[in-house]
Amino acid sequence: MGFKDKLVEKLRAELTEKELELLPSGFQTLGGIVIIKLDEQLLEKKKLIANAYLDILHYMRSVYINRGKIEGQFREPERIEYVAGEKDPMVEHKEHGVVYRFNIKKIMFSKGNINERKHLASLVKAGEIIVDMFAGIGYFSLPIAVLADPEKIHSIELNPTAYKYLVENIKLNKVQELIHPIHGNCKEEVLRLSEEGIRADRIIMGVFPAPKDYIEEALTLVKNSGTIIHYEGIGDREKDLVLYNEFAENAECLGFITELKDKRFVKSYGPNLYHTVYDIFAKKAEK
Ligand SMILES: C[S@@+](CC[C@H](N)C(=O)[O-])C[C@H]1O[C@@H](n2cnc3c(N)ncnc32)[C@H](O)[C@@H]1O
Repeated sequence: MGFKDKLVEKLRAELTEKELELLPSGFQTLGGIVIIKLDEQLLEKKKLIANAYLDILHYMRSVYINRGKIEGQFREPERIEYVAGEKDPMVEHKEHGVVYRFNIKKIMFSKGNINERKHLASLVKAGEIIVDMFAGIGYFSLPIAVLADPEKIHSIELNPTAYKYLVENIKLNKVQELIHPIHGNCKEEVLRLSEEGIRADRIIMGVFPAPKDYIEEALTLVKNSGTIIHYEGIGDREKDLVLYNEFAENAECLGFITELKDKRFVKSYGPNLYHTVYDIFAKKAEK
């Protein structure tokens, strides 16, 4: 019996046929918390429905409702609301041997990126210098430090709340030697790193919308032998090279040559829209 069938069974006596149909079939779990999306028509019965989730998923401790989207420069959840169980939004979410500690009401965590987080770490060679320009709570920096053997990861985060969790998660995963957390705007912090002579084997530009206004700064970190840049954005599946061409044109104007090494559709982001990652090799053009 699938999860939704169990839920319908549990609520058959309390909800109308129409309401039973509107029950969601999916849910997300982070740490011990279940996060659900509910149709507006069911909100009045949210407590009843949430308690049914806890009865079925008896190993989970709380149910919260996701009533909004991810928005703003800090990519924060618009509205995550407590409904039932333990009233504590703090989680320790485990994934690929990494522990992510954060407050689900303040910080986004996209489960849809689970494969990309592991894949990106698998690309890292021993001794690499990496700059993660939009680090968040360590979505990519932590799995790279835990699963790969880099020399150093410079992880930059602007949002003070996300930065606090980044620092906490570095300690929690015992990777203080590998990750250098930087609180600030990567537009300035990247220039500070390159002025200090730091050059990167790999640069992660993981934010939406695609960070084209940060390409110039990122290119100041490129090594003479070349650097791999992971450039992310929301791309149209049909016109899937638009974001890469945008990057390549900007780089060319700045005297760099680029080569597209790989392109991945990470997850759907709406009709024909995909979270897309471009692995771009960039190198200063010969004079
Ligand atoms: C949501 S996260 C990235 C998610 C991650 N790439 C993923 O796919 O799971 C983007 C982060 O970039 C941070 N950010 C946005 N603009 C920034 C800037 N100019 N400098 C540094 N961090 C920035 C946001 O605060 C946010 O924590």
